[in-house]
Amino acid sequence: MRKVKYAVLPVAGFGTRMLPLSKSVPKELLPLGNRPAIHYVVEEAIAAGIKHIVLVGHAQKSAIENYFDINAELDNQLRHKGKEALADSLNWLPEDVSISVIRQGTALGLGHAVLAARPIIGAHDFAVLLPDVVLDPFSGDMSADNLAFMIDAFATDGHSQILVETVADEDVHKYGIAQLSEDHSATSDMEDQAEANASFSVAGFVEKPNLADAPSRLAVVGRYVFSHHIFDYLANTTASVGGEIQLTDAIDALISEHGVSVTTMRGDSYDAGDMRSYMQAFIYFAEQQLAQGQ
Ligand code: G1P
Repeated sequence: MRKVKYAVLPVAGFGTRMLPLSKSVPKELLPLGNRPAIHYVVEEAIAAGIKHIVLVGHAQKSAIENYFDINAELDNQLRHKGKEALADSLNWLPEDVSISVIRQGTALGLGHAVLAARPIIGAHDFAVLLPDVVLDPFSGDMSADNLAFMIDAFATDGHSQILVETVADEDVHKYGIAQLSEDHSATSDMEDQAEANASFSVAGFVEKPNLADAPSRLAVVGRYVFSHHIFDYLANTTASVGGEIQLTDAIDALISEHGVSVTTMRGDSYDAGDMRSYMQAFIYFAEQQLAQGQ
């Protein structure tokens, strides 16, 4: 099976949990240390071998696509002033990587956003990266290694891969939660997850359950590698939790016919879509960069 080269980044949401910061600045462009949050997510995708990135955007968030474009006027001015290195640092996107933008129209949920990318992705298999979640980029290549592992696992057995990490009881209601298959339901299987990625078959997912109904503490982190067949299931998915077309429901439908596995995450994830965790993430990123003299 060919390696996955396409990735979808849904960036159409209003970011209500990040108001007032996100009122006129897209939440994906809010800084984590000295770069916008989405910068790290795009770097992660590229480091894992992605060549075509599809942003599912919104009319009021065109600043995101501009961030990845060359600003010719700024580039000219910097070079005219002899600031070549600074100009070069702004044009960091590799030449063999393309970024396309497609609009979601009415925002009907994460599943709907991913389906909006279908006209560009077509019959290619693809990754999805939720830019609210930033994987720690300061621990070697670990952040990209997670996605690279998932892409390899998918190439090996054709099972779509969903990245999961163990969360605290009080956070279970914020996430899609995995129900492992019988043979992997022993929690001891998960104890080594910080040491190495591992892939387990999964029986299903429950979107944002109450703690009492949660089948495990394994939460969907926001990194997925999908067979293109997911589009067919998304097209037939109706609104559920929160009145939205949930990606989780389409994944559940994909499991029986095409196989889905969870990949346990290495390293740490940071939620940049929630004010409190965003502020903690900012401090961590800034401290790391200051320590590195950036
Ligand atoms: C989405 C997904 C959820 C996942 C989460 C990760 O929820 O629906 O399954 O656990 O992202 O951040 P959202 O946070 O967009 O409501």
